[in-house]
Amino acid sequence: MNVGFLGFGEVASTLSVWLKEAGADVYTSIENRSNKTQGLAKDCGVNICSDNKSMAEISDILISAVTPAEALNIAKEVGKYVKGIYIDVNNISPKTVNEAMGYIENGKTVDAAIMGGIEKEGIRVQIVASGSYAEQFSNLNQYGLNIRVISPDLGKAKALKMLRSSYTKGVSAVLLESLFFAHQLDLDQELLKCLESTECPDFRESSLSRVKNSAYHAERKSQEMEEVLKFMNNMRKLEVIHEDEHPCMVKSTGEYFKYISENMKLDKKPDNLKELFELLKD
Ligand SMILES: NC(=O)c1ccc[n+]([C@@H]2O[C@H](COP(=O)([O-])OP(=O)(O)OC[C@H]3O[C@@H](n4cnc5c(N)ncnc54)[C@H](OP(=O)(O)O)[C@@H]3O)[C@@H](O)[C@H]2O)c1
Repeated sequence: MNVGFLGFGEVASTLSVWLKEAGADVYTSIENRSNKTQGLAKDCGVNICSDNKSMAEISDILISAVTPAEALNIAKEVGKYVKGIYIDVNNISPKTVNEAMGYIENGKTVDAAIMGGIEKEGIRVQIVASGSYAEQFSNLNQYGLNIRVISPDLGKAKALKMLRSSYTKGVSAVLLESLFFAHQLDLDQELLKCLESTECPDFRESSLSRVKNSAYHAERKSQEMEEVLKFMNNMRKLEVIHEDEHPCMVKSTGEYFKYISENMKLDKKPDNLKELFELLKD
């Protein structure tokens, strides 16, 4: 099985090590890529193709793991050379993935979404897939991946990812705001104790990591919420839901993260809540 990676960053390097170990032949191209990407590809010991087009011609599975901004360009670049199945794992909207897949001339396309952080979870990270070739893509489970097919329709996997983002980032924003107010009354630790007793056992640890991470990446999170908002507003435009339904939680979450990013400049993740909230107070 030949597996090609367009883009060789965190996703491709993590998956390729495991895929190789499980017996797959892994390829990438480093033509015009940064030193960092070239170094990663060499360190992982994958086969190097002279360019993306020749890789597209020899890959049974071709995975696009570039950046959200490049997802359309790369599909356009390789579209007419793809012989196998083309999978997009970039964080883009259902509308954009449908547009990207329009460039893949053989029509063997899969929309996929990585549900979690690949650095932390490795090969077992949950990947959901949709599209008429999603079942074939899930054959990579034989090599240790954790792919779950949810629909034959392109765009459903990206939609699920957006909805998951709406939930996880919404919860992070509510936690951050509630703990900030509690901190002003010296009640943040007490609030965590109360929540811990009714939520899951590792609630304290996971919420602290969530809050610190959210504050540190507040700008990116506000941009991601803008994408989710566009996706939901598009559903209203397409009359999938009634136009009176306003995605107000998503809108507020995005605005909250924007406010945090504008009012708190963090050079590193804060060590504790005190450090974080003193910065926000200033
Ligand atoms: N990391 C995660 O846990 C995770 C989770 C969910 C989804 N995703 C999605 O998966 C995709 C990849 O994520 P990542 O974390 O692996 O990103 P990354 O570490 O930033 O790597 C991106 C890679 O794409 C390359 N690239 C950029 N433009 C390209 C182009 N036009 N042609 C070929 N290669 C190009 C970059 O090369 P240069 O170094 O030369 O720029 C780099 O090797 C992203 O769209 C992200 O949204 C990631």
